Amino acid sequence: MRESTGTSSSGGLFRNGVVPIFTDGRSDVVRIDELNQVISITLDGRTMTVAAGTTVAAAILQAGANSRTSVRGEPRQPLCGMGICYECRAQIDGRMHQRTCHIVCGPGMEIVTG
Ligand code: FES
Repeated sequence: MRESTGTSSSGGLFRNGVVPIFTDGRSDVVRIDELNQVISITLDGRTMTVAAGTTVAAAILQAGANSRTSVRGEPRQPLCGMGICYECRAQIDGRMHQRTCHIVCGPGMEIVTG
């Protein structure tokens, strides 16, 4: 596969074919040549596939689900997409209240909404 060597005008948004993605530490980069790959995740007990590099928030929206339900019973979905509003929280691999807009789907990842 061909490897990108591009850089952004901001001085290195991506280098050596690696795109940095904000996460909680599970995986901080997605290689450009991996972006055309498909991975399998489990969302509320159902297996689904997403493109590598897809955030958990995007996968939840792709499935037509809500991230969580508020204490008043209102369905919540991602709002800001940049980690500020906390509206996108869901359980990921057993860890509660993860901001899904900051986490990239990993193979076999188990996501629970609601
Ligand atoms: S969408 Fe606002 S914190 Fe994730």
